[in-house]
Formats: sequence, C-alpha cells, structure tokens
Amino acid sequence: MLKVNDLEITARSTKEQLVKGISFEVGKGETLGLIGESGSGKSLTSKAVMRLLNSRIFRVNGSIRWKDREMLGRNAKLPKGYRGRQIAMITQNPMTAFAPMIKLGRQIEMGFELKGSRAKREFYERLDSALKSVNLTDLRKITDSYPDELSGGMLQRVMIAVTIMQSPERIHDTR
Ligand SMILES: Nc1ncnc2c1ncn2[C@@H]1O[C@H](COP(=O)(O)OP(=O)(O)OP(=O)(O)O)[C@@H](O)[C@H]1O
Ligand SMILES: [Mg+2]
Repeated sequence: MLKVNDLEITARSTKEQLVKGISFEVGKGETLGLIGESGSGKSLTSKAVMRLLNSRIFRVNGSIRWKDREMLGRNAKLPKGYRGRQIAMITQNPMTAFAPMIKLGRQIEMGFELKGSRAKREFYERLDSALKSVNLTDLRKITDSYPDELSGGMLQRVMIAVTIMQSPERIHDTR
C-alpha cells in the first residue's frame, strides 16, 4: 500500500541532508518499525509520508507512493481523507499534542465537526469504545480532565484512541 523510494530530505537553510536513501514498503496488514538513533530521521520520514513538512523549510526528493499514486512533487494531489482516514500519525509528545487549557472531552470533540445531539451521542459512544481498546475504562474521568491531570502514558493512549476513532488504513507512530 505504501512504497517509499530513495527518500531524501534536506534543510533549505543549511543544505544539511537530514534523511537520505530511505526505501521501504508496507503492505496491507503489515507493521513496520523504523529503528535508528535519536536524530536519525525517523520522525522526519513519517512527517514526509504524511506530507506535513513545510516545503519552504525542507526539500523532499524521491518517491512516496500510496496505493500506486505518487504523493510527492509539485503535481501530487492528496486524495480526500489522506491525512486521518487513510494515514494517521500518533505524534511523539503527548504533552504538546493537546491544548493545556481545554478539557479533553471538548478538545477531542472539536476535531470531529459534530452537528446535533445525536452525532454527539454517537461520538461519545465511539470515543468510549476507542478508549476501552487502549485500556482506559473511565470515559468521564478522561473527558473531564485537563491534559496535565493525566499521566504521560494515559495521554499517549488517549491520543492513540483518537487516532483509532478515525479508522485509518495505516498508522504512523513516530515515537
Ligand atoms: N524543523 C527542523 N529544522 C531543521 N532541522 C530539523 C528540523 N526537525 C528536525 N531536524 C533535524 O533532522 C534530524 C532528524 O530529526 P528527527 O526528528 O526525524 O529524528 P528522530 O529519528 O525522530 O529522533 P528521535 O528518536 O529523537 O525522535 C535531526 O538532526 C534534527 O535536528
Ligand atoms: Mg522522533
């Protein structure tokens, strides 16, 4: 499903090559781990696949094919739902992924554009089951908490649950 070929990421300001010659494939149902020392380019590679790198800051060369379509280059058009429904990313630091001043329930709701009370009820049912799937059994406790009231591991699992709720076909975990 995902084919990365000869990926190269360069910082425009310093011309420093941050990632070079990375190639891998991920088929349906497969899991791939990227292993490397800190600063070796795992997160940058994942962000390139998500097309989250600012082109004014990074030059990205090579090929990233998703379902046989090229996602890199000037003419590449991201398919609808590419970020989120097709490929999702769990970011590294749960402490910076959430806004500190908004309770988690309302904050997660905001990402889902809910119209009407029925949509909202269904949303909380889905959130409840996604949280249960990562072993968080107390929906109310989570949704009524501010991010700093939960442990780092709990927050990370909340983030994973929110990613699961979008039913992506692939999940990138950039830890
Ligand atoms: N916005 C940026 N501007 C310039 N250089 C960057 C930027 N983001 C990352 N880098 C550099 O790119 C390299 C790869 O960073 P990356 O975050 O991909 O590493 P990583 O493999 O995910 O490391 P870790 O295991 O610590 O998460 C590092 O040398 C880093 O300094
Ligand atoms: Mg990283």
